[in-house]
Amino acid sequence: MESKEYPGKLTPFLVLTCLVAATGGLIVGYDIGISGGVTSMDPFLMKFFPSVYRKEKQNQSSNQYCTFDSQILTTFTSSLYLAALVASFFASSVTRIFGRRWSMLAGGVSFLVGAALNGAAQDVFMLIFGRILLGIGVGFIGQSVPLYLSEMAPAKLRGMLNITCQLMITIGIFSANLINYGVSKIEAGWGWRLSLALAAVPATIITIGSLFLPDTPNSLIERGHDEKAKEILRKIRGTDDILEEYSDLVAAGKVSKKTRHPWINIVKRKYRPHLTMAILIPFFQQLTGINVIMFYAPVLFKTLGFGSNTSLMSAVIIGLVNVCATFVSIGTVDRLGRRLLFLQGGFQMLACQIILGTLIAIKFGTTGEGTIPKTYAAFMVLFICIYVAGFAWSWGPLGGTLVPSEIFPLEIRSAGQSINVSVNMLFTFVVAQTFLPMLCHFKFGLFYFFAGWVIVMTIFIALFLPETKNVPIEKMILVWKAHWFWNKFIPDKNEHVSTKEMAMI
Ligand code: BGC
Repeated sequence: MESKEYPGKLTPFLVLTCLVAATGGLIVGYDIGISGGVTSMDPFLMKFFPSVYRKEKQNQSSNQYCTFDSQILTTFTSSLYLAALVASFFASSVTRIFGRRWSMLAGGVSFLVGAALNGAAQDVFMLIFGRILLGIGVGFIGQSVPLYLSEMAPAKLRGMLNITCQLMITIGIFSANLINYGVSKIEAGWGWRLSLALAAVPATIITIGSLFLPDTPNSLIERGHDEKAKEILRKIRGTDDILEEYSDLVAAGKVSKKTRHPWINIVKRKYRPHLTMAILIPFFQQLTGINVIMFYAPVLFKTLGFGSNTSLMSAVIIGLVNVCATFVSIGTVDRLGRRLLFLQGGFQMLACQIILGTLIAIKFGTTGEGTIPKTYAAFMVLFICIYVAGFAWSWGPLGGTLVPSEIFPLEIRSAGQSINVSVNMLFTFVVAQTFLPMLCHFKFGLFYFFAGWVIVMTIFIALFLPETKNVPIEKMILVWKAHWFWNKFIPDKNEHVSTKEMAMI
């Protein structure tokens, strides 16, 4: 299939703008990684959740599975995602009407205030209110940054830039793990304040950055600033020869303007494959159980009888594996293809979940009573690492942004992206909110529960996800038309491809 290349080079100006925008991913990751470590710190628990602290201390002989089962403790972690879910809908209008950078600015400011409130928190209310503001930030940033990056990037670098956003998320999680480990050593017990307040550092970068960032040519054209769009295009492509790309952007803008109701459009029969993926991919991604590890690894390790320090250290190791394994995806996704990574990652996660569930069952059984010897514990951390690596080169980057962002035709891209972000947030919320009670009731079976979902999603990918590697976005319709199941949804006459191309399938 023929792909199109416009003149231009990777300019330092483009690299700089994308780096600033990608700091958004850093904050999202930082927020994912920070709460688990903080909730495993005794001074933090003593101040805000004394009943959980007392239960943990008295828990010499009782059921380990239920030590941390506290609704208010899970609310601290999960409130952020509910706020992000609601905010991402507002963000989609701001992004469209006022431009991408205003959404980034709104997200940055919200992050700054949230981080300040959290760092200075005196009671649970301040704590959760701050988390909600951080959530609003995640909603705005999660909506606008991937869009910004894809629109600024030259077509041939879009995939790589896309995964860079996921890489930033993993670096954010890892930094949070490291900082938690470092500050937990502060004797006076205020380390958690530093952990929470440090979210202000990346927040400041994106807030100030977005004041100076140019908006994307696509957004400028959409809002009638044609001359400015040309000027930015010249600057980011480093050439005056931008007419062809510019006219294509204007044409795409016209089609997109004609589609007044992307939300109504996307439920039409011909978009059924797209809508199915927009909902199921983020749903499945969360049902891998990854955020059980990302949010609660230190709490989980304490449940298994690790000391506070070892728990935080193990989270650091896991965070590092997550970052490194993402590079594997960056390096292989355009050669090996999406399907192979999804399937391989699925098998790897499945094997680890079964092993982990069984290891816990052997030591704690159904009563939750028992202790774990050191080498046994080391094995558990090892299998968690292998599981996380499997996620980080498959469902992480591919399910997070890459596949959802490349399968939609332009006229439904904004709606599809919003659905993707909100389903992701909704199930991140559900997993965060239900994990601790589920651990208490399902016990080791919780690992088998997520393993069951990994089986379902792996079969789903094998049967229903066509390979999209190296296929130009504008020609993606051909991939669906050639698919054994989805072909009946795609009409033979299509505005995206010529009759000749259609006949070649
Ligand atoms: C997911 C997050 C997850 C992260 C882990 C992202 O793709 O959407 O929920 O915590 O990967 O690296």
